[in-house]
Amino acid sequence: MERYRRLSGKNISKWYKTFGRKNLPWRKKVTPYRVWISEMILQQTQVATGIDYFLKFTEKYPDLESIKFASEDDVLRLWKGLGYYRRATYIYQAKEIIHNKLSGKFPEEFDSIVSLPGVGRSTAGAILSIAFKKPYPILDGNVKRVLSRFYFQKIFNEKKFWILSEQMLDKIDPFSFQQGIMDIGATICKKQNPDCRVCPLKKSCKSNIRSDYFNLPAKRAKKKSLHLNFKIHYKENKIFLIRDNALGFWKNLWMPPYEICKNNNYDIKHTISHRDLFIEFKSEEKVDQFENGQWFEKEKLQFIATPKPISDKLLKL
Ligand code: ADE
Repeated sequence: MERYRRLSGKNISKWYKTFGRKNLPWRKKVTPYRVWISEMILQQTQVATGIDYFLKFTEKYPDLESIKFASEDDVLRLWKGLGYYRRATYIYQAKEIIHNKLSGKFPEEFDSIVSLPGVGRSTAGAILSIAFKKPYPILDGNVKRVLSRFYFQKIFNEKKFWILSEQMLDKIDPFSFQQGIMDIGATICKKQNPDCRVCPLKKSCKSNIRSDYFNLPAKRAKKKSLHLNFKIHYKENKIFLIRDNALGFWKNLWMPPYEICKNNNYDIKHTISHRDLFIEFKSEEKVDQFENGQWFEKEKLQFIATPKPISDKLLKL
């Protein structure tokens, strides 16, 4: 196998100290709890959108103590509009474990952090590096892109990616290093038009040396579409909502009964992770009553967890 020149993490931490995005709210006041919440948000959300949610979340629940008695619905409600709601359920489950089994203290060891719900090896690595200054590798889309370009190799297998990510770590300053590599991936080594001139890795980066780079990652497959027809049963200021997990997304959220249909009519289009949803609302005089359903007064709607496009509609009724 070809031998690769090592990528030096020290250049990255040094770069971070001068050029990193030190104003990001989770970097200003660093606690394990805040780093954990930010990493859960940033798993599937861009930094620009994540900032507002992070501020909203930490305003309501600034620390582990304040979230101790939050219900799953409380957490889901704060997540409204962010998508990938499973992350909110994981936060709820993890804080229950921390309070019930770990004496209310955020764990500091890799094995216990990675066994929290919703925390994989990369998120655990980010928490350990940033919150506890312990050098553990991370591997997300940005890091993969930097590595692939640095070595001018279109793709490595996961195992090799992890090895390279571990090799480049700055073990002395994992805090600056991890945030630096994230910032370089997001602001310099961008998917399109990377800004190699200002990159701290340019001297040994194979892509820069060749004046060529891979457009990574390859384009995603077209999303599948799904038509949903929601039946809005609204009477005497009350609305009937169900909570089922049959859709496979929007788990544990409240919504009107629905049918999956083949219609081409829709009121709104809403895009989630792997699907384009075409949503239609129909007022119904009567709907079948479901075991998993309940009547809610309209004024109570703002206090329950509902997917954003649905709550936007219901609140206008
Ligand atoms: N993406 C994932 N974690 C991040 C962090 N801590 N800062 C910026 N972007 C990130």
